[in-house]
Amino acid sequence: NETELILAIESSCDETSVAVIENGETILSNIVASQIKSHKRFGGVVPEVASRHHVEQITICIEEALTEANVTAKDLRAVAVTYGPGLVGALLIGLSAAKAFAWANDLPLLPINHMAGHIYAARLVEPLEFPLMALLVSGGHTELVYMEKDGSFEIIGETRDDAAGEAYDKVGRVLGLSYPSGKEIDTLAHQGTDTYNFPRAMIKEDNFDFSFSGLKSAFINLTHNAEQRGEILDPNNLAASFQASVIEVLVTKTIRACKTYPVKQLIVAGGVAANRGLREQMTNAIEQEIPNVRLIVPPVRLCGDNAAMIGAAAHVELQKHHFAKMSLNADPSLAF
Ligand code: KG4
Ligand code: ZN
Repeated sequence: NETELILAIESSCDETSVAVIENGETILSNIVASQIKSHKRFGGVVPEVASRHHVEQITICIEEALTEANVTAKDLRAVAVTYGPGLVGALLIGLSAAKAFAWANDLPLLPINHMAGHIYAARLVEPLEFPLMALLVSGGHTELVYMEKDGSFEIIGETRDDAAGEAYDKVGRVLGLSYPSGKEIDTLAHQGTDTYNFPRAMIKEDNFDFSFSGLKSAFINLTHNAEQRGEILDPNNLAASFQASVIEVLVTKTIRACKTYPVKQLIVAGGVAANRGLREQMTNAIEQEIPNVRLIVPPVRLCGDNAAMIGAAAHVELQKHHFAKMSLNADPSLAF
C-alpha cells in the first residue's frame, strides 16, 4: 500500500483541529473549530474556557475529519498529536483523544511539536529542500530556525522579550481593537503611512535575535502623551508605523540569516505569516537580495493553528518510527 494516511490532532491553544493527511503533503480534510468568539470579550485566551471548548469539539472534529476524507480508522497508518508547546489543559484534551483513538484502533501514536508543525505547513505547499531557514512568527514565538535536514531544528535567533504576534495584540489593545488584533492592524496599516518612525530594535546587532517590547513601549508612550495633550493620532498612521518597524526588523534579520547559512529555501510560518505587509516585503527582499533562495509562505488558512500542519510534520516522525508511549504527557514549554 503506497498511500500513508495520518490522522492529526491539534489543540494547543484556541483552535480544535483534526486533519487527515496523505504522505505528509496532501490534505484530505482539515477541520478547524475556532473558539476566538468565546475569548474575545476577555481580551485574550482564557485557558479554562479553552479546555472546555476542546472537550466539546474534539470528538465532533475527529468524526468530521474522517467523513470529509472519506476514510475509516482501518485506512490509517498512525495518529499524530501536538504535545507542546501550548496551554497544558488544552494540550491534554487533544492528547487524551489521540491516545484513546490510537488505543481503540491499534494505531501507533506520533508526538508532534507545535512549532515544527508551523514549519511543515510549507510541505503542504511544495516539497522541502534542505538546508533551509524558517522564520517562525506567532503569538508566542518569534525565532529563526535553521534546518540542515528533515527533522533537525537549530534555533539561531529568537526574541529576547515579546513575540511579534504578542506585540500586535498588545498594541491592538491600545488602539481599542479586539483580540487578536494582528489582522486588523495589518488592514489599518495599508491605509496609513510610516510617520512616527519607531525604533528598529537590534537591527544593526550582529546576531539573529529580536526584541519587540521597546517598540510596544514607544507606541504606548506616544499615544499616551498625545492623549494628555488632548491630541488624537491617526490610527492608520500609528498602525502603519508600528507595522513598518516590525517588518523591517523581521525582513532584515531573516535575509541576513539566509546569507549566512547555505540555504535553498526560506519558510515564513506561524500566525503572523498571514500578514500582508510581511509577505509582500519578504518577497521583494528575497527577489532583490537572494533570488536563488526559494520563498515558501503557506496560504493564510495554513498559517494559523491547524491540524494539517501537524500531519505534515508527523510524516517525518513516522519514517523515523518515532512513536510515543501511551504515557506521553503534555509539555507546555516544549522546545525543539
Ligand atoms: O500561530 P498562531 O495562530 O497561534 C500561536 O501559536 O500563537 O498566531 C496567532 C498570532 C496572534 O498574535 C495574531 O494577532 C497574529 O498571529 N496574526 C497576525 C495576523 N494574523 C494573525 N499578525 C499580523 N498580521 C496578521 N495579518
Ligand atoms: Zn501556533
